[in-house]
Amino acid sequence: MKQAILKEKAAKKALDFVQEGMTLGVGSGSTVRFFIQALADSGIRPKDIVAASKDSEEALASVGLKVRDLNSCDEVDVYVDGCDEINERFEMIKGGGAALTREKIIAAASAKFVCIADASKQVSVLGEFALPVEVIPMARSYVARQLLALGGEPRWREGVVTDNGNWILDVHYLSIVDAPAMEQKINAIAGVVTVGIFAKERADVLIVARENGVEVIER
Ligand code: A5P
Repeated sequence: MKQAILKEKAAKKALDFVQEGMTLGVGSGSTVRFFIQALADSGIRPKDIVAASKDSEEALASVGLKVRDLNSCDEVDVYVDGCDEINERFEMIKGGGAALTREKIIAAASAKFVCIADASKQVSVLGEFALPVEVIPMARSYVARQLLALGGEPRWREGVVTDNGNWILDVHYLSIVDAPAMEQKINAIAGVVTVGIFAKERADVLIVARENGVEVIER
């Protein structure tokens, strides 16, 4: 089965976690695109929707779903988002679409994180997918040197500017065995805005689509 079909199946299943009147967080990426369409088609109307990227904001608007500023909402009930990798502890790498900072903010503000993924995202150790790190532009070289010292090989995602006006370094060849420790260590480097390790803000629920069906796993 094509990866896109699996993404769509996982995205549709996430509707089970969405109710009328709730505050819903919507992440970003191609799996979330399927979720946005499924939400529009379902007729379920959350009270408020907050979006993790301008891209998702536009996609929601295009199907008639209005987005609110996170500052004008209370706690977000459910946050639905994809991931680039997820391990057995539901710790993730995110940021392949460069939206990691807003994604982490909404994840932190949410009561429940529902991760939607196709089976290719499941890994035993995080790090085969190059780890995105959002940096303040003037700190790029300094941060890159620090990431090199941690054993990774940082590469500048040239030409990409995040929704927050910053740049992205993708760190290759890092084997992230202790995700919470690595998250803290990279977050502590001056000039780092957000690291794409979601250990503190790991998922509560994983909806994973495989060839033989969709599984919902709660931790
Ligand atoms: C966006 O910055 C990412 O965190 C996405 O959630 C992640 O890249 C998943 O993307 P796809 O759904 O396109 O695979």
